[in-house]
Parts: sequence; structure tokens; C-alpha cells
Amino acid sequence: MSTYTDRMFTEEELAEIRAQFYYVDEDYYGRKRLFFDNAGGSLRLKKAEEAFHRIDSMPDASEHSNSLALELAALEDRGRDDIKHVIFNAKSGTIYPTYTASQIAMEMVRVILENAKGTNVVTTMLEHPSVFDAARMYSEKHGMELRVAGVNKETGGVDAETILGLIDENTALLCCMAASNISGYIYETENICKKAREINPDIYIYIDAVQHAPHGSLDPEKWGADVTSFAPYKFFGVRGFGIAFLSDRVSAFAHHRLLGKAEDDWEIGSPATAQFAVITEIINYVADLGKKAFPEETDRRKLFEAGMQRIADHERGLLWMMLEGTGDVPGLRHIPGVIVQMDGKDLMTRDLILGVEFEHLTCQQAVAEYEKRGVITFERALTSMYSKRMVEAFDSKGMVRLSPLHVNTPAEIRQFLQITQELAAL
Ligand SMILES: Cc1ncc(COP(=O)(O)O)c(C=O)c1O
Repeated sequence: MSTYTDRMFTEEELAEIRAQFYYVDEDYYGRKRLFFDNAGGSLRLKKAEEAFHRIDSMPDASEHSNSLALELAALEDRGRDDIKHVIFNAKSGTIYPTYTASQIAMEMVRVILENAKGTNVVTTMLEHPSVFDAARMYSEKHGMELRVAGVNKETGGVDAETILGLIDENTALLCCMAASNISGYIYETENICKKAREINPDIYIYIDAVQHAPHGSLDPEKWGADVTSFAPYKFFGVRGFGIAFLSDRVSAFAHHRLLGKAEDDWEIGSPATAQFAVITEIINYVADLGKKAFPEETDRRKLFEAGMQRIADHERGLLWMMLEGTGDVPGLRHIPGVIVQMDGKDLMTRDLILGVEFEHLTCQQAVAEYEKRGVITFERALTSMYSKRMVEAFDSKGMVRLSPLHVNTPAEIRQFLQITQELAAL
């Protein structure tokens, strides 16, 4: 069909993959549906949920000395090791786990701006409010100028040159996403970090990878990022955990801490052992996908990368089908009455997220009509504080966000496109 569809999962592989997630084709009440709102919280990996329940049901405290407590402590350490070395591929730095990725954003922007030298902060129009508002609050507090890089309406992203054009030797902090949660655009993270450091070697860089983590590997040390965050509930895992990598220089900053602990220890309070076990299960799942492609490989990070690559390959095939159709059913680009927003032509720069508008329906009406027909989507409306800034940046009246996952099949995309044709004709 296209080079984008060359490396998709086979039917057998998809059947195996789908069996490992809850509620893939029906909801909690057994109603048939297509779940295309994974960017708001992804389908859950059964093994992750089972591990969470099994471990969290034990009252034993991992910091105590009874035998089960020691087992729990070992599971936590395994999880910490997995986060640092497999998900972040980090040799240095510290892991900072807390309740949400938003808390990480607020806390890290606060801590960095209390310590960094400079007179301005650079961010982009597409940032999540937790990052954007933190950059705004703390730049104001420290009398720094906030510079905001605008969007590229063609690609659905923010160009590296636009961001770099705002950075100078006085830029204290750059806050930038790895991928957009409205358009799926993948930022040129490594290029941006490298060139930003050429302009100001002392700059601090915060990369919000919450959106990108379920679609591609993260590599903060290679990128040159000081902070990189993700949220397991958007990555096949469980709500109630947000995790960041902190570079050595950032982890050394004064922060809330029990004084008896190591200076670079950012964990406060009793650790949530079950949450760490969830991460290990997510990695096991992705590494297993990698192992099928590279049966001889034993390095866990390499297997994880290979698994994420397979996920990305399949998702790009699905994205192409959504846009261009499935042969007998036209794609979103070709259905009269449907407007694809932020429709960058190079799909290699896009994760599996789309924004569409309907000529005859508001985004809220379209989301409701989709739900009547068994498709769960999400409205990015002008009335939402999570969406307004981004939606306006693309001159939109509000969009329907479509975020399937690598578990979806070509047949489901075909079904979705047929339903979209119905909506466009309303
Ligand atoms: C790109 C991005 N960053 C940050 C967040 C905040 O994550 P959390 O819900 O864990 O606070 C989200 C959540 O939607 C997001 O999409």
C-alpha cells in the first residue's frame, strides 16, 4: 500500500498483542467500541494491572525488615533500575518519581529557576499547561522574560529554528515537548538540545515526553536534556505515578528531602512499590516485542528500543491508513466534510494522533456522534483550558482528537473510516 505500511504487525501478532490488554474492543460494561482516546490514558496492560494489584494488596512496608518487606524492596529497586537504565538509557543522573507529570513540571521549573542564571525562559505554544503555566509563573516570579515559540501550521509542530531563534546566552531554561499531545508532531529534540547548548552551554532543558513515551524511545543523556518526564498511565500502565530523569547538575539542587537521605535522592515518603512493579511489566512487554525481531539480543535497553520501534512502525502504518484509506474506504484526507488539521506530510515526524474537524458538526457534537456509534474520541475545544491555546494557534474552532494505539488493526481503521463518513454526511 505504502512504505509506511511495510512493517506493520501481522494478524497473528496483533491477536497476541491484543490479548495482553484490557478493554481493547469492548468497554467495562461489555459494549463493543473502538477506543481512540489513548492520549488521555492508554489501554492497560493486563500484567501491569495484575502486578499492581498483587503487590499493592500486601500491607508490608518495603523499608522494613521482614522477609516480604525485603522482597518488595527488591522489586522497587528493580523498577528504579528499569526506569533509569531501560526507559531513560541513563548512566548518570537521578530518577524522580512522584504522583503526576504535572507535579514534576511545576516542581522542576520552580527548582531550576531558583538556581539558574539568566534573564529569559523559552517555551513553545504547544506545551501542556503544567509546563507552560509553570514557565509563566516562575519566570514572572524571577523577573525573567517568557519567550514562546509559535507553531508551524503545516506540520502541526514547532520548528527547531523558531525555538532556537528565541534562545540566547541569557536563556536560563528551555521547556519543550518531545511530541505534541494535539497533533502528534515529534519535535527535533536532539537537534534542539544540541544547538541550544551551542548558544548557551549553561542552559537548562526540560523535555516533556509524556506524549511521546508510548510511541518511541527516550534518551535524555544523548539528547542533552536535564529533565525528561513521562506518565505511566499513558504508557499502558497505571494512574497515580509520574516519573522524571534528572541530570546530575539538576539533581544536586536543593529540594524537598528528608535530611537523613542522600542529597541526590528525590523520593519523599513511603515508596509505592506496586507502581515500580508496573514499570517492570511495561518494559517486559515492550522488550518481548523487540525479542521477536531480534531473538539473539539480550541487552534489555536494546530490546526495549527494538520493541518501541516495532510499535512506532505499526502505528505509522495505521496513521497512513487513517489519512489515505484502506483501499475500499477513503481516508480522512479524502472524505468530503472532514478537515484534517495539522496534517504534516512526512509521517516520520508524527506519532499516532490526529486532529480533525467536521464542516457540519462542532467538535463536541462529533465526539458525541462517534460515541453513539461506538468510537471513543476526545474534543479539543476552545472552552477547555487544556486546549484553548493550542487550538487557537492552529486557527481551529475546536477539533476531535483521535488517538488509537499499536493494538489497533487495519480492520478497525476501516470501520472507523466508515463511521467517519456517516458523521460527515450528517
Ligand atoms: C504532553 C503532556 N504533558 C504533561 C501531561 C500531564 O500529565 P499528568 O496527567 O501526569 O499530570 C500531559 C497529560 O495530558 C500531557 O499530555
